[in-house]
Amino acid sequence: MNKNDYTIRLEEKNDYGAVENLVRESFWNVYRPGCSEHYVIHVLRNDPAFVPELDFVMELDGKLIGQNMFMKTVIDADDGRTTDVLTMGPIGIIPEMKRKGYGKALLDYTLEKAAEMGFGAVLFEGNIAFYSKSGFDYSNKFGIRYHDLPEDADSSFFLC
Ligand SMILES: CC(C)(COP(=O)(O)OP(=O)(O)OC[C@H]1O[C@@H](n2cnc3c(N)ncnc32)[C@H](O)[C@@H]1OP(=O)(O)O)[C@@H](O)C(=O)NCCC(=O)NCCS
Repeated sequence: MNKNDYTIRLEEKNDYGAVENLVRESFWNVYRPGCSEHYVIHVLRNDPAFVPELDFVMELDGKLIGQNMFMKTVIDADDGRTTDVLTMGPIGIIPEMKRKGYGKALLDYTLEKAAEMGFGAVLFEGNIAFYSKSGFDYSNKFGIRYHDLPEDADSSFFLC
């Protein structure tokens, strides 16, 4: 990967079909037979929590190779307070471009944009092996639990 060979820009309406295809290709057979993430983003864009200013695509030589998006969510504190934060993804890179540094470049750029908008934290389910390289850690280290999960259950998938 060359730092100057890609562009990251906001997703536009006429990208929707291509982006859903890209996401399907990225996730296909990775976590289970087939995948549903392309349908998830199809629905998420109409959710009030969706943040259009943080809905990004990555292009290389005029072709879409990656995408990432964010949704608003809240942390419910034990004392009744709530804190506005973000949740993220799906994030995907097309199969032939995986493990070349594009995913990290897209993740880091989009996190920077989220921070510029004033969001203080991003929480989501993910693989620590990839996300730790961009500063993520287990949410339980910050005292943040996954809703409805028993306190002693494994929550190592839940990152902050
Ligand atoms: C996960 C994904 C977005 C990562 O993008 P990528 O371009 O392949 O990753 P990068 O090349 O930028 O990797 C950055 C670092 O994370 C590591 N990494 C990436 N994917 C990893 C994985 N699945 N497991 C372990 N480490 C991983 C790489 O080794 C690299 O570290 P290094 O630079 O020290 O070698 C991409 O592989 C993908 O689309 N996967 C399928 C969909 C998916 O799982 N999305 C995330 C759901 S939470």
